[in-house]
Amino acid sequence: MRGRIAVIGSCMIDLVTYVTRMPEAGETLAAPRFEIGFGGKGANQAVACARLGSEVMMVGKLGRDAFGDATLRNFATHAIDASFVDQVEGVSSGVAPIFVEPSGENRILIVTGANDHLRPADIERAAGELRHAALILLQLEVPLETVYHAIAWAAREGIPVLLNPAPANPALALDRLRSVRFFVPNQSELALLTGLPAATAREAEAAAKTLLAAGLEHVIVTLGGEGALSLGREGVRLIPPVRVTPVDTTGAGDAFIGSFAHHYVASGDVEAALIAASRYAAQSITAPGTQRSFPDAAAFAAFCAKLPPAPN
Ligand code: RIB
Repeated sequence: MRGRIAVIGSCMIDLVTYVTRMPEAGETLAAPRFEIGFGGKGANQAVACARLGSEVMMVGKLGRDAFGDATLRNFATHAIDASFVDQVEGVSSGVAPIFVEPSGENRILIVTGANDHLRPADIERAAGELRHAALILLQLEVPLETVYHAIAWAAREGIPVLLNPAPANPALALDRLRSVRFFVPNQSELALLTGLPAATAREAEAAAKTLLAAGLEHVIVTLGGEGALSLGREGVRLIPPVRVTPVDTTGAGDAFIGSFAHHYVASGDVEAALIAASRYAAQSITAPGTQRSFPDAAAFAAFCAKLPPAPN
């Protein structure tokens, strides 16, 4: 199994402030550092795939502004095919003010801007190219109607889909997701979608099982510092975490998904792809920034060479 990965999703510019603590209401507080970087869950996942060596195409929307121009240059730098990333007049590119605490924990606001203009018609327009994808990645920073349309289109074309239901959206209709091959929430998204607690691996397993019972094929729950849980036809598997000292956890979920997609498309081996994804996400949180912290294939291989062999 080899082939192109298509990402239908969001682009944002991340405005990252590193804080010593969050201010109280009405308080003004100096923060030590600020950085601008490329973000958006869709673009992040596309860049992770590309940095690892996958052929990637992106379908998305930008504003016709400096952030939009810079994002197109970033895709070109990563050899990501952005022929179907359009710039929309009269609306800003998506931006994400992000606050990172000394522990590496992040808080993110999103102003979706041009991302709201990605419509089902854009999927149809890109259909000739999307048809060559081995896997399609979707998230929820673009309109739900577009996500549903892409899922239904991919099912008709026989192309597997990975859906990352982030950010959490209580309006997501599970009965429209039955053809999705991989459904990849984090613990808070899982809790919101199921109405069940998912704070521990045991709770997350019980909650994820209700999604399987509702007809989803394969659920992968990212557990932050506790690894990941995979539930599907082959049963339940806990992918152990890789212990690192976090510097900035922003985009760790996107690093996990991009790496999983790259390794799954390259090998067809779900288990091996999950182990690689867990390692890649761990490496990404040891450096500041979102896409900036995603290693390329050589840096990732060097990181893995220092880890104990993967468990059987
Ligand atoms: O998942 C992290 C991303 O969420 C950030 O890059 C930010 O842009 C938001 O989309």
